Amino acid sequence: MQFEITTQNLNSLQADLAIAPVYQDGKQAKATAGLSAGLRNLIGNAMASGDIRGKSGETLLLTHTGRLGVRHLLLAGLGNRDKLDAAGWRKAVEAAVKRAERSSATTVINLMGLEDVPGMDATRKARSFAEQWLYASYRYTATRKRVKDTRPKDRRLTVAIDGEEEEAQAKLGLRQGRAIGRARNYARELGNLPANVCTPAYLESEARKLARRSTRVTAEVLQEDEMKELGMNSLLSVCEGSELKPRLIVLHYRGASDESPPVALVGKGVTFDTGGISLKPGRAMDEMKFDMSGAGSVLAALHATIELRLPINLVVLAAAVENMPSGRATKPGDIVKAMSGETIEILNTDAEGRLILADALYYSLRYKPSKVVDVATLTGACLMALGRHYSGLFANNDDLAEELRAAGEAASDPAWRLPMGPQYMPELKSNFADMANIGSRFAGATTAACFLSRFVKNARWAHLDIAGTAWKTGGSKGSTGRPVPLLTEFLLGQ
Ligand code: BES
Ligand code: MN
Ligand code: ZN
Repeated sequence: MQFEITTQNLNSLQADLAIAPVYQDGKQAKATAGLSAGLRNLIGNAMASGDIRGKSGETLLLTHTGRLGVRHLLLAGLGNRDKLDAAGWRKAVEAAVKRAERSSATTVINLMGLEDVPGMDATRKARSFAEQWLYASYRYTATRKRVKDTRPKDRRLTVAIDGEEEEAQAKLGLRQGRAIGRARNYARELGNLPANVCTPAYLESEARKLARRSTRVTAEVLQEDEMKELGMNSLLSVCEGSELKPRLIVLHYRGASDESPPVALVGKGVTFDTGGISLKPGRAMDEMKFDMSGAGSVLAALHATIELRLPINLVVLAAAVENMPSGRATKPGDIVKAMSGETIEILNTDAEGRLILADALYYSLRYKPSKVVDVATLTGACLMALGRHYSGLFANNDDLAEELRAAGEAASDPAWRLPMGPQYMPELKSNFADMANIGSRFAGATTAACFLSRFVKNARWAHLDIAGTAWKTGGSKGSTGRPVPLLTEFLLGQ
């Protein structure tokens, strides 16, 4: 797959498939004004006949238009021209790309970027197209008998732009979109793999593969004995019941001078969460294979960082464990001492994400990061509060919270800030240890974040709870690769 830009004359357009925008209010699209009379007639007739009205997200594929230079013409509705905004434009591109992607076209040219979209420059538009094309082209095949893929192999996807001035901008956008799209699909693949394949050891091998992709990256993977030595008993308590050994994966990316402090990304990598002795109910338990999505997303953010050769220092930590019940498993009421020295009464073994992050976050501080961001499918409560649209965002620093919120909005991978503070701390009181690992029935996402905040000392820290956003359930069950776009946007801004 190859992404390109063109300033070619639209009057003599050549492609297997061209994507052309139409407006609901009948206003002429800028993109189609320069097309040949034949193509303009075709579009006019489709609109006049009512086969497409131009509503946002509507598409119509016209075929056998070969004599006009393009074999297929895909019309994509953009709604009313005066009301067009970035969200509407993205939605229209998503629909068009979904349709075009499953066509037989080898060469595709997209004219939608020729429209003026408030708040979007050529970079944003090109990036969004590449990103969405890659998202639509992902298929999960790893554990299936070879399914026949009839799509052309070497597709050329071209974005039409206005003038030469936009060329550099659009090129940059395609490069970013490609990196983000590929990284996101990488995270989706890790998420979708079953837990008998995607184990802590598997994540280690993936981390080592990533390290081989760039001379800027080094991998260091802590094994059980090293973690014991470091006193990471909180993390280790989670996998006592599992036959699989834990891993604490640490990847260093050096793209800036040694003096520049790194950003730290820390991911929850529970490769399967049964709940442990506090066993989960059976319904949809299979989805707990996605409980390593935080780890997947931070590995993917590194994937994008490598591809974009970002001029930053980055350290990525992924805490990989499996949470199982057994005769050796941690029991409710058991008390462990975390690496920080504080003791934790484990009242519920299903609140395991915070137990592994407690030690992983604490360990990340040794790299003196300028900012620490953890990503975790941490609480069902976050899903209850925000549904599947926004990731939950918590921070001990307002600037960092705003930076991440804005990155999510710009990348169309949004996060919503939820409260956190000393008022909630009493919930975590224990009669037998320095703290308990659960609070009351209320504000579950917040008390989880409060628990984490005790292990980051005074570092600038934020926490993304992706319990609602990391995967889809039902008929389209599968990993979404969120919040890779948010994280990459955040790193681009460093
Ligand atoms: N991985 C789950 C959170 C989760 C549940 C994510 C459902 C997405 C969908 C986490 O480890 C967990 O079990 N959390 C508990 C915490 C509770 C015991 C305080 C929860 O949310 O129920
Ligand atoms: Mn759990
Ligand atoms: Zn979990």
